[in-house]
Amino acid sequence: MIKVLFVCLGNICRSPMAEAIFAHEIAVQGLSQQVSCDSAGTSDYHPGDPPDDRTLKVLQQHGIETTQQARQIKDEDFFNFDYILAMDQKNLDHLLDQRDRLAEPTAKICLMDAYHPDHDVNDIPEDVPDPYWSQDDGFEEVFQMLYPACKNLLQVIVEEDLA
Ligand code: 4NP
Repeated sequence: MIKVLFVCLGNICRSPMAEAIFAHEIAVQGLSQQVSCDSAGTSDYHPGDPPDDRTLKVLQQHGIETTQQARQIKDEDFFNFDYILAMDQKNLDHLLDQRDRLAEPTAKICLMDAYHPDHDVNDIPEDVPDPYWSQDDGFEEVFQMLYPACKNLLQVIVEEDLA
């Protein structure tokens, strides 16, 4: 089983959206026995909370459901997951600092946008912008970044890890 963890700051906007999209794609492609996913926040701002209403609304508009509840990243995650995808550079830095305090963590950690299919390997990945303080259109913009990146990440896993 290849395990993927999506990480943002609050775990109520971007990473639960990525988790829901990725879980949807896993189901659509019939890969539930081979790939699983979860999400977490680098902060402890929203433990146990459901995703932000605006995340749920955008997911619903695209026919995707989720029952996710927010949680904070923990040390075990760096051993239990194969991939940890950070939504932005600040959260990536947080993850790398936490990882560097652990003995022989195994997860591959990088920015979510590194898996966006429009990007050449030489492009510098961009942040998935924090939509928390934006209007609804910020959430649709996040969806439009995450959807192709999630699809491509699953394709990469199928080709590189499940082949
Ligand atoms: P997220 O967005 O990191 O995409 O879940 C945020 C959610 C909550 C807060 C900040 C960003 N907050 O400050 O509570």
